[in-house]
Amino acid sequence: MATTNPIPRFPAGFLWGVSTSAHQIEGAVDAREPSVWDLFTAEPGRVRDGSTAAVACDHVHRHREDVALLADLGVDAYRFSVSWPRVRAEGGLDFYNRLVDDLLAAGVRPVPTLFHWDLPADLDWLERDTAERFAEHVAGVVARLGDRVTKWITLNEPAEHTLLGHALGVHAPGRTLLFDALPVAHHQLLAHGLAVRALRAAGAFDIGIANSHGPTWPASDDEADVAAADFYDTLLNRLFADPLLLGRYPEGVGELMPGDVEADLKTIAEPIDWYGINYYAPTRVGAPQGAEIEFGGVRMPAELPFSVREIEGYPVTDFGWPVVPEALTELLALFHGRYGDQLPPVVITENGCAYEGLDDADRITYLDGHVRALHRAVEAGVDVRGYFVWSLLDNFEWAEGYGRRFGLVHVDFGTQRRTPKASYGWYRALLREQRG
Ligand code: BGC
Repeated sequence: MATTNPIPRFPAGFLWGVSTSAHQIEGAVDAREPSVWDLFTAEPGRVRDGSTAAVACDHVHRHREDVALLADLGVDAYRFSVSWPRVRAEGGLDFYNRLVDDLLAAGVRPVPTLFHWDLPADLDWLERDTAERFAEHVAGVVARLGDRVTKWITLNEPAEHTLLGHALGVHAPGRTLLFDALPVAHHQLLAHGLAVRALRAAGAFDIGIANSHGPTWPASDDEADVAAADFYDTLLNRLFADPLLLGRYPEGVGELMPGDVEADLKTIAEPIDWYGINYYAPTRVGAPQGAEIEFGGVRMPAELPFSVREIEGYPVTDFGWPVVPEALTELLALFHGRYGDQLPPVVITENGCAYEGLDDADRITYLDGHVRALHRAVEAGVDVRGYFVWSLLDNFEWAEGYGRRFGLVHVDFGTQRRTPKASYGWYRALLREQRG
């Protein structure tokens, strides 16, 4: 259970927020172009409960109510994503224009993410050209919103979009390319670098990216397990952080990437102002077991050079993910040690858990533990500037449909009624305490 000890005070100016993403909450599908996710969810068997995000939280029509929830919660900032397929539709940017105005009027700082997986259906990250198209999209968004938005996030989790969407086929666009999916990672990283340039050209000075990272624990001290865990760490952590922060790929990776990799790395490593980390849980990894395994709803083929193993001895969320707050401190120490001065200030851009119920004591325990773990990292000298809970609302949880509830606010998807959960009250009280 969460203890009653007050959470220690974070440094002045620390940014407290919550996150969402366009495809997961917006609905209003007719007022935008289709995305790869619309095509994917239309295929039978792709989403566990057979649902789609056509309505989701109907946020486009109810955003005023959601902004009021943010204001009452007392967050400094709201991380949402701008849907590229909506921006392409006639008047699509008008919605974000209103949202930004309403947030500012409510005293909440808008923090848009410019891509959170809902790629326009006619585009493809296997094509280099998509990176250029993305930079044009970003230039259009900043031209319209840049007079009021100051903090920007280029991409959300290019690692998961590559791995789940293009290597293992459990997310849109549903490809099972395994290591042939690597160009998807490279093109997203390139898109990030080009987006940073487009934002800077428009005068932006507070730019980050949101990458998913986590510690990788070897299943044993056995050489084969340690090597497999190291491989997985490269795939999840270093493949994305090294080029962004060091301007190079981990050894052996650059050769697998398309195009003029050396030239592209200069673009990818455009300096950013802060580094966003989405953290949920550590992963335990061992040597391959020679057979296909199913882990957390993801089918992993036998030919992978590692196998993901159960982490025992910790409580788990409804998703089956272990609750290990101290692994967040460990992760930040790892990044601090690995990148040293090359690591800009860090913002936790997502952290949260799936649990049912309005009286969500388990979520409070999870968040309380992780905020304390974050404070320990700050005490140990990591420059952390913000924390965003995933998520404001229960929403469309990708291939899981509406079956996993991550919200501080419960959504009844039949009536669209919003009901703050106990965790919403807990976070509200924390924010008051931190400012008191
Ligand atoms: C994604 C979110 C997702 C959350 C929980 C992150 O990987 O950015 O879109 O809902 O994790 O699975």
